[in-house]
Amino acid sequence: MKTTNRVPLAPAVRLTGKTIVLGVTGSIAAYKAASLARRLMTEGATVRVVMTHTAQRFVAPLTFEALTGHPVGTDLFPSSSGEVGAGGARSAGPPPAMNVMPHLALAGGADLIAIAPASAHCVAKLAHGLADDLLTALVLAAECPVMVVPAMDGGMWTHPAVRANVRTLRQRRVAVLEPGVGPLASGRVGQGRFPDEDAILAAISGALCAKDFRGRRVLITAGPTQEPLDPVRFLSNRSSGKMGWALTEAARDRGADVVLVAGPTSLAPVPNVTYVPVVTSEEMRKEVVTRFPGTDVLIMAAAVADFRPARPARGKVPKGRDVRMLALEPTKDILKELPLRRAGQVVVGFAAETGDLVARARGKLRDKALDLIVANDLTEPGAGFGTDTNRATLLDRAGRCEGLPLMSKHELAHRILDAVLSLP
Ligand code: CTP
Repeated sequence: MKTTNRVPLAPAVRLTGKTIVLGVTGSIAAYKAASLARRLMTEGATVRVVMTHTAQRFVAPLTFEALTGHPVGTDLFPSSSGEVGAGGARSAGPPPAMNVMPHLALAGGADLIAIAPASAHCVAKLAHGLADDLLTALVLAAECPVMVVPAMDGGMWTHPAVRANVRTLRQRRVAVLEPGVGPLASGRVGQGRFPDEDAILAAISGALCAKDFRGRRVLITAGPTQEPLDPVRFLSNRSSGKMGWALTEAARDRGADVVLVAGPTSLAPVPNVTYVPVVTSEEMRKEVVTRFPGTDVLIMAAAVADFRPARPARGKVPKGRDVRMLALEPTKDILKELPLRRAGQVVVGFAAETGDLVARARGKLRDKALDLIVANDLTEPGAGFGTDTNRATLLDRAGRCEGLPLMSKHELAHRILDAVLSLP
């Protein structure tokens, strides 16, 4: 089993107190569900496993019973002992409420049903509303969110029938994750691999986290800007966009309507947000200034260029040209160009520093009339551009100053949103 450097979930999205029904279907990736079950439990969830008959040909229910401490659901009809199906050895865990049909008992107690891995057959049954086994009956009976984590051979994932079934499920607001791309059990290479465990965790925690930004319109900028020298060359900076992406995902997961205005990055677009790609600081400024009046919270995480070539060449500058002098001119400061604020609008800035962190950040907070500033010392290990982690200090207009430890950008994103909600 692959080991990764696991970054724990942000407190805002930990799974403590949540019950997750993990549906396991007949895919070679069924063994990976055991690791996922463990991981969900580490994050605080109670995990109840339901297996299809085919799944049991790949992994024994006993594996999941031992891992979760609960009986595994395998059959639509309760056994005489009152267990959830007949999934092997009895569990020492608390007995399920089995005075009703197992699928109803499980459906009633679930905060989320995650079907991982979901075979092509299972996806088809879900799309057509079939209910001939415990798992599919449970999905129809449940009112909680359902997440489908497909794993199948590449040719199957791209088959028109599977594509149509996935479309049907997504139209019904079932979250269907994209399988990973790479070598498949068949020896082929393509899309169909069980997704990365961290990605599944992030999707599950996102579906379950508090919707405390519901109804708020959040505008986020991210990434670098590029300022052209000529048609093929530009001035830019080392921003990867990861912090802005983490903020976008966190705000979306917490129920906000998010617009992401981003300079060029290599990151995949964030689903279910409005994505506005830009290149130069001037393009970013126009988008932000136009959209600001219809925004409740603006978070300027972008590393906007402060200077640009004063006279970009129309054609490519040839090698022999005398380039010892490069004339630059300042760009406009977007935060200082914002139109007049409505009452209640919140503006958050970042301060990227290489020393004198708090004093410089406090100066920017005041100078740019911010409500909150996220200050990073770029010289600290694990902080700043390109990393998956960050160490930040949050300063707000009420004078509060909170130094945070090194944490994932995902966790920091939630801490920033928490700070927005707690502004006086
Ligand atoms: N910012 C902006 N417009 C610019 C430059 C920066 O709106 N042209 C925003 C950034 O997105 C960030 C905040 O201002 O939220 C502070 O950016 P930073 O680069 O730390 O500071 P600068 O104002 O550019 O000052 P300096 O580079 O001198 O530290």
